[in-house]
Amino acid sequence: MSRADLSAPLLSIFEKVKLEYLKAKKSGDLELARRKALECAKILRLLAENSPGLRDLYLEKASRWIRTARSLKQESGAEKPRIPPLSDNNLKIGLEDLIAKTRVKWNDIGGLWEAKRLIMETIVIAGLKRPESIKPWKGILLFGPPGTGKTLLASAAAGSLNATFFNVSIDKVLSKYFGESSKLISALYSLAREKAPSIVFLDEIDALTLSRRRETSDALRRALSSLLIQLDGLKIGGNEPLVLTIAATNAPWDLDKAILSRFPRRIYVPLPDRRASKEIIRICTRGLDISKLRLDDLAAKCVEKLYSGRDISNLCQQAIWNMVRDVNRDLYRLAELPYEKIRSMRLKVRPLLMEDFEDAFRKIRSPLTKKDIEAYERWNEKYGEY
Ligand SMILES: Nc1ncnc2c1ncn2[C@@H]1O[C@H](COP(=O)(O)OP(=O)(O)O)[C@@H](O)[C@H]1O
Ligand SMILES: [Mg+2]
Repeated sequence: MSRADLSAPLLSIFEKVKLEYLKAKKSGDLELARRKALECAKILRLLAENSPGLRDLYLEKASRWIRTARSLKQESGAEKPRIPPLSDNNLKIGLEDLIAKTRVKWNDIGGLWEAKRLIMETIVIAGLKRPESIKPWKGILLFGPPGTGKTLLASAAAGSLNATFFNVSIDKVLSKYFGESSKLISALYSLAREKAPSIVFLDEIDALTLSRRRETSDALRRALSSLLIQLDGLKIGGNEPLVLTIAATNAPWDLDKAILSRFPRRIYVPLPDRRASKEIIRICTRGLDISKLRLDDLAAKCVEKLYSGRDISNLCQQAIWNMVRDVNRDLYRLAELPYEKIRSMRLKVRPLLMEDFEDAFRKIRSPLTKKDIEAYERWNEKYGEY
């Protein structure tokens, strides 16, 4: 059989299941929606297997569906008592949920050479035998515009150490566990010590800011102080297990002094410059022929449009889709074939062309302005470490 494509039929099956998911969600049948979300993930994995050039793209989409399914599980489970009281068992389950497997490697991250170097250095110092007076950092703060690779950096740090990675969105913890947040935070750190080496990634740490809120609550105050205690109490080195906290924020200016002082090492994660943009484009198009692209021109345009790493990744995905549609026009017809047959076929690809990027550039707009960037730069000059 020709190398015709399999993916079109898979794609149309995917679309169908996605519709079913939307319907289930709308009608409030969360359990059905969850199952459909898992099915979507499964189909995307098949698509990944079938199309080497688009593998990463599909896998990423698949993992997004898995996350959707998980959050539905939590929602449907939490329906009765909206905030489940934390029995120890419950707590443990909640915590296990935060442990993420990460396969991100340093070379999946374009640019950010300085940030990578500083993080690697921190990890190495924590691990080396050294005189007592040389104290390793216990925490690192990553700040910068959204979508610039902060989560990626933390995942790569965990991946390179083969450490247990706790991916904690402070915002979500506060909204889900509210009054119990402080308990969750101390339990989190004791589990992190137990499973060391560990990296605790506290995303959106600005959610713990007290000073800028109109109403502060006891629960919030308790959560903050519980975190401060954990950060102060952590010792690394000697026989202590390695537990490194990496916090991230898009709004460093909102942070309270109490938090800031616990993170003397503050690393700016900026928008990619030309060289970094080029690297990110290369990473996002792995497995495809890019010899016909003028990478320098593309990178220059990304910088001009204030694109973040996420924007560049979206740009490449769009361009790739344009290429795929161009060479697989009648894909959907294959949907009539038996599934097994589809699985044995392959998606057609051709080299990426500059034209594939043209309308992608039109579609993707950065939400940032020059002014926003200046604010980060000013904060960096004043508070950043390097
Ligand atoms: N420097 C980068 N190199 C490669 N991909 C990047 C980079 N920055 C962002 N991305 C892409 O954008 C996505 C979002 O990045 P993320 O690390 O979650 O940003 P942040 O945490 O800073 O908001 C990543 O999953 C990746 O696909
Ligand atoms: Mg992030």
